[in-house]
Amino acid sequence: MTQEQFERTIDRDQRVEPRDWMPDAYRATMIRQIAQHAHSEIIGMQPEGLWITRAPSLRRRAILLAKVQDEAGHGLYLYSAAETLGADRAELTEKLISGRQKYSSIFNYPTLTFADVGVIGWLVDGAAICNQVPLCRSSYGPYARAMIRICKEESFHQRQGYELLMTLMRGTPAQREMVQDAVNRWWWPSLMMFGPPDADSTHTERSMAWKIKRHTNDELRQRFVDMTVPQADALGVTLPDPELRWNAERGHHDFGPIDWSELKRVISGDGPCNAERVAVRRAAHEDGAWVREAAAAYAAKQAERERRRDGEGLAAV
Ligand SMILES: [Fe+2]
Ligand SMILES: [Fe+2]
Repeated sequence: MTQEQFERTIDRDQRVEPRDWMPDAYRATMIRQIAQHAHSEIIGMQPEGLWITRAPSLRRRAILLAKVQDEAGHGLYLYSAAETLGADRAELTEKLISGRQKYSSIFNYPTLTFADVGVIGWLVDGAAICNQVPLCRSSYGPYARAMIRICKEESFHQRQGYELLMTLMRGTPAQREMVQDAVNRWWWPSLMMFGPPDADSTHTERSMAWKIKRHTNDELRQRFVDMTVPQADALGVTLPDPELRWNAERGHHDFGPIDWSELKRVISGDGPCNAERVAVRRAAHEDGAWVREAAAAYAAKQAERERRRDGEGLAAV
């Protein structure tokens, strides 16, 4: 395959597959995007994982456990997709725990109450769905296919979050207050999940040309706001933005300015939980070293046994 064939594949909306020729910059962009996505799934287990032992009922604990486990699965599919591009998974993990590769800044915020679990499902998984549904048509085949299953699970996550919040909203005034407080803290960071405004986004243009990305950050953010406002009404919570209102002329909701300095600060490592998240991931990686070593030793032993068996088989012939 050549440059020309690569371009034809993109133009015809077909998929680029691991053995196809691709420009180095496409490969590098794809590895970076998939790795950051994988890291986000794995780091994203932490804020909610902290609530597994403190869930208010066995039912809520089982649901949350399953959800956090799904996120681990998402991380694993995505690391595998990155490996099809020649990336080394151990190296990607090393980049994450040494701070050389990023993950979604949303996971650097703390989860203060159990209502945060519901709001993360509703808003954070909701924003992830807006971002990820178009990625099911991403030009890189293994990534696009991984996204199909991931999106199905994410929409389940969103519903469980919404159902949890509905239950709390039907409870006591203190429970309703807990939900409102969580919404107040997570709303703006959720809008930041779509990345910087289009005018400042360095990767958008080329990623759109290569059909890695299908919509701009601002388009997706608008879609998320339009989708969420009626859900907030049904829930009976107020989104913390006095400028939020329907604009009949545009056919969309207008919303207030986002504090981009906050996103910059959190991305550059100065969010409320950055240090803690990376430290926990690093400790888990170090604690798991013996498991990886044992698995590698077992695989080597199996391979050796098979080689010997093949040798004996040949000798018998
Ligand atoms: Fe996920
Ligand atoms: Fe999720």
